[in-house]
Amino acid sequence: MRRTLIAGNWKMHKNSETARGFARDFLKLYQTTPDLDVCIAAPFTELLALEEMFRGTDLFTAAQNMHFEDQGAFTGEISAPMLAEIGVDFVIVGHSERRAYFAETDETVNKKAKKAFEWNLTPIICCGETLAQREQGLERHIVRHQVVMALAGLTPEQVAKSVIAYEPIWAIGTGKVATPEVAEEMCRVIRTVIRTHHGDAADDVRILYGGSVKPDNAKELMDMEDIDGALVGGASLDPVDFLDIIHAAEN
Ligand code: PGA
Repeated sequence: MRRTLIAGNWKMHKNSETARGFARDFLKLYQTTPDLDVCIAAPFTELLALEEMFRGTDLFTAAQNMHFEDQGAFTGEISAPMLAEIGVDFVIVGHSERRAYFAETDETVNKKAKKAFEWNLTPIICCGETLAQREQGLERHIVRHQVVMALAGLTPEQVAKSVIAYEPIWAIGTGKVATPEVAEEMCRVIRTVIRTHHGDAADDVRILYGGSVKPDNAKELMDMEDIDGALVGGASLDPVDFLDIIHAAEN
């Protein structure tokens, strides 16, 4: 039985005041849910504050990126031990925006996934095709390749603990959500390729859908068999919208 995971991705939004304001409003309304995990990927500058505000709750925090070395001359980077030290639980790896704008490759995604596990962080590994790739019928090929590369060399236990987020790039921030059937089909492709390479660990991997998830489309997506949760961008910025998505995933 896979626990649902609803992950918010704030991207480069919110400052100290608005992040704390979100957490205050959210904590007033949020009720612990037995079968569901919730995490928020905040900018690095807000992670410690969120960690402190979430203490004593079952809410998790996530980083949006990290470096694959423990330390060194990598100006501007943040390492896994730095995140682990402040109590961060998850880290998003290989988001399409990082792949597109910051030269993230399948190789660095794999290195980061391995490093995350060394420090007891759970990687949320993103994959997904562009519109042009889908129009050429390449979506399965692209996504299979990304997933195989990302998980290469991980132990079966690590694969089982990993989270994969299928995020078609044409659906991110566009309001064009994938239909539940398309999202399910791709999440099933991902589970199948994981089974081919890592055996039964495929049954435990949580596969999320991401891309314009909103309160009014979350339930039909979450109802699909191979979709175990959501990675939510825009709609995670508002506590009420984010809670509505969590509630939709509960039912
Ligand atoms: P969106 O972003 O929900 O705003 O489409 C999703 C993501 O990029 O993780």
